[in-house]
Amino acid sequence: MIIGVPIEIKNNENRVALTPGGALELIKRGHTVYVQDNAGFNSGFPNELYESVGAKILPTIEAVYDIAEMIMKVKEPIESEYKLIKEDQLLFTYFHFASYEPLTKAMIENRSVCLAYETVEKADRSLPLLIPMSEVAGRMATQQGAKYLEKPIKGKGVLLGGVPGVSPGRVLVLGGGVVGTQAAKMAAGLGAQVTIMDINLDRLRYLNDVMPANVVTRYSSEVNIRELIPIMDLIIGAVLIPGAKAPNLITRDMLKDMQKGTVLVDVAVDQGGCIETCKPTTHENPTFIIDDIVHYCVANMPGAVPYTSTVALTNATLPYAIELANKGWKKACNENRELELGLNVIKGDVVYKAVAEAFDLPYVDVKKHLN
Ligand SMILES: NC(=O)c1ccc[n+]([C@@H]2O[C@H](COP(=O)([O-])OP(=O)(O)OC[C@H]3O[C@@H](n4cnc5c(N)ncnc54)[C@H](O)[C@@H]3O)[C@@H](O)[C@H]2O)c1
Repeated sequence: MIIGVPIEIKNNENRVALTPGGALELIKRGHTVYVQDNAGFNSGFPNELYESVGAKILPTIEAVYDIAEMIMKVKEPIESEYKLIKEDQLLFTYFHFASYEPLTKAMIENRSVCLAYETVEKADRSLPLLIPMSEVAGRMATQQGAKYLEKPIKGKGVLLGGVPGVSPGRVLVLGGGVVGTQAAKMAAGLGAQVTIMDINLDRLRYLNDVMPANVVTRYSSEVNIRELIPIMDLIIGAVLIPGAKAPNLITRDMLKDMQKGTVLVDVAVDQGGCIETCKPTTHENPTFIIDDIVHYCVANMPGAVPYTSTVALTNATLPYAIELANKGWKKACNENRELELGLNVIKGDVVYKAVAEAFDLPYVDVKKHLN
């Protein structure tokens, strides 16, 4: 198969969909990989690394879309790319269709085959191509929180690990899923006193077993949250209710109970946030202050660490990309239910129910295209 890797042109997106190592794995299996000039540069992968494994560099995005049977990307195509996509071309990338109607309509019109990273799903209902980015965001949440606790950037002036003779900082993590677990692990590693809250008791039991002694678990409830916020230095929001807006666990009135300079990091901001006063921010301007409380609410946290994010993402996507390239999308999706669930739009038909429902579009059973 001919695989094309265009440069990401969405604002501030520095990741690339395939590492040189990933390109090699595809090339070894007889496929041809075309990479746009400098597509990997911001992730730390210059053209020469791709060329050294046998990939070919193309000068323009038009050339990549023109030649490829499968386009591998990171973010959804933006408007200037819509016209480059061809009928029957397979697009393997994040789409998040339900959040943007013009994208959905454009992909219906161009009759491409859209396989969305975010809906590839394992039998245990986990989302293997979302997990790596949650891992990155979770670890970053603690790193950013520790930074914004510094006084010159309006934080409380607390070193999370403390020093001998001085108590460590206190961290509250709301939600003990992928993001929350990674955030708690990082905070515990720095020496902070960490509390993880969740409503899933099985999850709390598991975390209680595997976390170090400086991490405790509490059931997530308003009473327990109100009890703890006055003594916390850093609060990390990492709650997810699949398919719904995150609940506001930290409400505006709670800010007055926090100490000045407390830092709130709402990782769940991309799902509406679990801290009422959080509004999406960017890496250029990541924080704002309300009532002396520092808010960090960057909606695409992994974008700030493109090397780590690119490698983590491609570790997860590569086995699926190889299967798609080896078998073609139809056979691969017929034989692998995880990939089948990634299909969202096929040749003008919306085959993913939630996307059809989001925009009142006709839903077509994916089997129409697989058999
Ligand atoms: N900002 C970013 O850059 C970025 C990056 C990756 C993920 N995210 C977001 O982070 C959020 C968390 O993702 P995840 O992968 O950890 O999800 P996850 O499903 O692994 O974990 C969510 C956890 O929240 C818990 N929960 C639900 N209701 C709760 C409540 N009332 N109180 C406490 N816990 C509750 C669930 O039981 C679950 O354990 C999502 O909104 C995701 O989209 C943001």
